[in-house]
Amino acid sequence: MAKPVPPTGRGSGEPPGRDGIQAHAPRIAEAIRDVGKIGVDPAGGWTRLAFSDEERAAHEVVARWLDQLGLKVDQDAIGNTWVRREGTNPDGVPIVVGSHLDTVPQGGRFDGVAGVVAMVETMRILEEHSVETSHPVVGIIFSAEEGARFGEPCIGSKAVAGTIDESHLTRLRDAAGATAADAMVSVGLDPERVTNVRWGRDDAAAFLELHIEQGRLLEANKAAIGLVDVVSGSTRMRVTVTGEAGHSGASPMRNRADAMAAAAQMILAVESLAKDPFHRGLRGTVGWIDVHPNSATTIPGRVSMMVDVRDVDSDRQREATGEILRKLRGISELRGVEMDAEVVADTSPAVLSMWLRELLREVCVGLSMDFRVLSSGAGHDAQIMAHLLPSALVFVPSAGGVSHHPDEWTSPEAIAKGVDVLVGSLIRLDDVLSSTVG
Ligand code: HGY
Ligand code: MN
Ligand code: MN
Repeated sequence: MAKPVPPTGRGSGEPPGRDGIQAHAPRIAEAIRDVGKIGVDPAGGWTRLAFSDEERAAHEVVARWLDQLGLKVDQDAIGNTWVRREGTNPDGVPIVVGSHLDTVPQGGRFDGVAGVVAMVETMRILEEHSVETSHPVVGIIFSAEEGARFGEPCIGSKAVAGTIDESHLTRLRDAAGATAADAMVSVGLDPERVTNVRWGRDDAAAFLELHIEQGRLLEANKAAIGLVDVVSGSTRMRVTVTGEAGHSGASPMRNRADAMAAAAQMILAVESLAKDPFHRGLRGTVGWIDVHPNSATTIPGRVSMMVDVRDVDSDRQREATGEILRKLRGISELRGVEMDAEVVADTSPAVLSMWLRELLREVCVGLSMDFRVLSSGAGHDAQIMAHLLPSALVFVPSAGGVSHHPDEWTSPEAIAKGVDVLVGSLIRLDDVLSSTVG
C-alpha cells in the first residue's frame, strides 16, 4: 500500500486533487526545449532517426536528468534507456512508464518526446514529494520506435516483447542499404545481444505511455485526455517496379516500359482502394519512393516505393494488403513491367487493457478532467508492450491534428494534465496491485 506522504492525500490511492501534487508545465516546456536542441534539421523540423547519433544524444540528455535525481539509469543492448525508482516491497514487480525519442525525417518536437518528458516529470514529482510506492516505478525510453528509416516500427519495444531478434536486424535495410544491425553497431549498440533485452510476463506489472494524439478529435471535442482502446496495425511493403530505361526523346510513346508511370498508377490504386467506402477505416499511403536513374531525360527503368497499409482491424488490414498486391500485379502486367513486393514489416493492431483503461478513467473523473475514449491511427510502443503486459495509452491534444511535421504542437499545460493523470493512475495502480496481491 502506498504510504500516505504529504498532506495532499497522495498515496491514499486517491488521485492528486487539483491542489494536490501537480506537474510543472514550465519545467515540461524547458525539457521539451532541451530535447529540441538535438536533431534540428536545416531543411526544417527535427530529424533523429532510429539508431542515429542524434537519437543517442537525446537518450543521453534525458539519462543525465534522471541520474541527477539519484535514480539508477541503465541501457540495454538495443539502446533502450531504463531508469528504476525502488518501491517499498522488495519483491514488487515494476510499473513501467515511457515512450520514444527518435523522429521521422523533418518531424516535430512532441511525437514521443512528450511521453518521455512526462516520464521524467513523473519521476521528479515522485521524488520531490517522497511518494512511496510499493511497486518499483521504471521509466523507459524505447529505441527506434519510428518505422521511417527501416520500415519496421517499435524495434526497441519489440526486442523487450521478444518479437524481434538479430535476424530481423540484419535483414532490415534503410534507403542507403545499411542494415539496422550495422546502424546499431555504428552507435555503439550490440545487435548480437538483442535477445538479452527480452522481458518475461512476470518482469513487470503494467505499462503506461503518454503520447500526443496526432489527430484532431481531442481538440475538436475540447477534451484534455484521450484514453486509447485500440491501436492501429501496419503492414509495410517495399514494391519494386522494373521497366526499361530509355531516351525520353528518341523513344516513341508506344510500347514503352516506363517504371515511373506504372508506379504512379499503382500509387493512385493504393489511394483509391483506401478511399473506397467498403474499406472504411483503412489508410493506404506511399510516402517513400526511389527512382532510377532519376534523370530528366531518361525513361525511368526502376522505381522502388514503400506502401504503408494501416487498420485497427487485423483481418481488414491483411485482406486489404492482399487486394492491393493483386491490383498492383494487374497494373504491372498491363504495362509490361516487372513487379516485386517484399513485406518489410507487419504489426498487428492491439486492443489495450480495459481494466487499466477503467482505472485511468476513474483518475480522470477524480481530477475532473474531460476525457474521450478513442482509437489510435498511429502505431505506438504501448501496442507492442500489450503483448506482455496490461498497457495503457494516454493521449494529449495535438493542435490541428498535425504530426510528423515541424508544425506539430501540444502545449506544456496540456502535457502537464496528462502527467497528472499518469501520476494519479500509477499511484492508484500501485494500491490496486498491492491490495490484490496482498
Ligand atoms: O508511424 C507511426 O505509426 C508512429 O508514428 N510510430
Ligand atoms: Mn511518429
Ligand atoms: Mn510516436
